[in-house]
Parts: sequence; structure tokens; C-alpha cells
Amino acid sequence: MKGFVFTEFLEMVEEAHGYELVDKLLLESHLPSGGNYTSVGTYDHAEMIALVNKLSEHLNLPTGQLLRTYGRYMFGSFKRDYGLFIDKADSAFSLLSSIQQYIHVEVRKLYPDAELPHFTITQPAPDRLVMHYESERKLADFAHGLIEGCLAHFGEEAVVTESRRAADGSDVIFEITKKRNE
Ligand code: HEM
Repeated sequence: MKGFVFTEFLEMVEEAHGYELVDKLLLESHLPSGGNYTSVGTYDHAEMIALVNKLSEHLNLPTGQLLRTYGRYMFGSFKRDYGLFIDKADSAFSLLSSIQQYIHVEVRKLYPDAELPHFTITQPAPDRLVMHYESERKLADFAHGLIEGCLAHFGEEAVVTESRRAADGSDVIFEITKKRNE
């Protein structure tokens, strides 16, 4: 997993809870890398899980909720660093339906060692998008948060439901249904 996934996570924790907690997470998570993440480096994604588990202990919040919050935050980071990709889309659905065939393809060109999920995306109706997420990183909740961050960016309201979710978070179907403009 790329280092900036870690640095953005730690940044989010610092903004919300201060550096003291970041320091505790780094000290207490027994990280093989020592936690000295550089944005272009590559690290074992198990370290992310260790950090999220430790944060969950400290805040007494479920890891799924933290990953989802992190996904929403991360969309803001992508907006700042990869605005070019995001600006090409004129709606949340156009961006979300381009992840597998365009955005993550470009990401792979920039970072050949990126560990990316697989999405199968269909649009059964103009107001419905179905995204089947599959990944060994088991980050379904992070994906859920990214979808929410994307909808918020475009100022669109939609209901995001999950079905056929694997207990470990490696496989889930998101169904995104846009709310009608009243
Ligand atoms: C401009 C927009 C986006 C960019 C530039 C981008 C880029 C990236 C990058 C660089 C990674 C990390 C790869 C690694 O650590 O090795 C990643 C991971 C990921 N991306 Fe995207 N992404 C974007 C939008 C999205 C959106 C909207 C979703 C929504 C579902 C998404 C889903 C994911 C997930 C779930 C991962 C975690 C890795 C995994 O589950 O295997 N991405 N993306």
C-alpha cells in the first residue's frame, strides 16, 4: 500500500485528535516499518489495519466506522492531489463508473506497485449504479466512505446500500440510488 494512504490517515487523526494520539498509534501498533512513512514508499497494508485497530481501541469506535470516515476524508485528498481526474467527470456516477477503466488505470501507470481493488460496475437505471468491490485488502468500508465523499463532492444525494457482503470486507456489492430532486 502506498505511503500516502498512511500519511493521509495519520493527518486525519492529527486534525481530529491531535498529534499525541498519532504518536501513541505509531508507538503501540508494532509496525514493522517503524511508521516512518514516505508518500511514495510502499508498505504492508497489514500496518494500516494495525493502525485502524489501535485507533478503534483508543476512541472506542468500530473499525468499520473509522475506515468509512477515512474514505470520506481520502476523497478530499484525491481532490487536492488528482483534481485532473476528478474534474473530467461532471457527476458522481460518471466519476464512480470510470474508476476501474480509467482512474485506477492511470494510478497504475503512476505507481506500478499500487495495490488496487477490482470493481465491476453496472448502471441498471439512470438513477442507479451498482459497484461490486473485490479486494484482498478487505477495505469495503473504506470504499463505502470514498463513494460518500464522491457524492458529497458533486453535491448529490443518494442512498448507498451494501449487499452480499463477505464478513471480512473483501467482497461487497454497493447499490447507489440517487434521490430525486424535489
Ligand atoms: C481521483 C480519484 C481517485 C484516485 C486518484 C485513486 C487512487 C488510488 C490510489 C493511489 C490507491 C492506493 C493504492 C495503494 O495503496 O497501493 C487507491 C486505493 C483504493 N481506491 Fe482509489 N482512487 C480514486 C478514487 C476512488 C474512488 C471514488 C473509489 C470508490 C470506491 C476508490 C476505491 C479505492 C479503494 C477501495 C482502495 C483501497 C485498496 C483496496 O481496496 O484494495 N478509489 N486509489
